[in-house]
Amino acid sequence: MERLQKVIASSGYASRRKAEELILSGKVLVNGEVCDVLGSKVSPSDQITVEGHNLKRENKEYILLYKPRGCVTTTSDEKGRKTVLDLIETTNRLYPVGRLDYDTSGLLLLTNDGELTNLLIHPKSNVEKVYVAKIDGVVNPEDMKKMARGVIIDGKKTSRAKVKIKKIDKRKNSSIVELTIHEGRNHQVKKMFDAFGYKVSKLKRERFAGLTLDGLTSGKYRHLSIKEVKTLYSLVK
Ligand code: URA
Repeated sequence: MERLQKVIASSGYASRRKAEELILSGKVLVNGEVCDVLGSKVSPSDQITVEGHNLKRENKEYILLYKPRGCVTTTSDEKGRKTVLDLIETTNRLYPVGRLDYDTSGLLLLTNDGELTNLLIHPKSNVEKVYVAKIDGVVNPEDMKKMARGVIIDGKKTSRAKVKIKKIDKRKNSSIVELTIHEGRNHQVKKMFDAFGYKVSKLKRERFAGLTLDGLTSGKYRHLSIKEVKTLYSLVK
């Protein structure tokens, strides 16, 4: 048995708070009867209706994908490009947790657990993301120090980041920099480098919320263990 608001939130229909509001305002039915008491418990066989919609109760599935470059992180693409879902075999309707650009590779979670997705992508979730960026040109260590302290992108300063210069290749005129951030703003890494005039030529996300790509090659995926899912919840709840 699970609490009604949790079941609604995990279906992805609404956030936990919104689910509570829906229950209190009498918009939720359990087996056809209004249930406006918070904390009511329901079993997997109960039919839940929210604002007239029958809630689909799917088994939760959690996938860790090593996204290759050259595919989009949306579920469908109007230009007909390959999507991350083309790489996964499942009968569930899964959604990516956040985004990686078309030309970015690396760790991407996909799930049908709407509640966990909302918690992980929430601006306050604070989960750690580690990127490795290949930069055109030789980076200046002073710029990297400034970048770590925060830089204005889209009119707002980024929060503190960790920046490690991994390699500088003067002959090839390129650098490799590891960047650890806790936000997930649009094209954040590329924009942070761009603020100092550097162009990111390759970008890979190596870690997300403590998870790594260990054991995977590009384009391959694995399911998370129950322990890993519990750890993710413990990071954001
Ligand atoms: N930052 C970017 O610029 N691109 C990504 O894909 C992820 C983070």
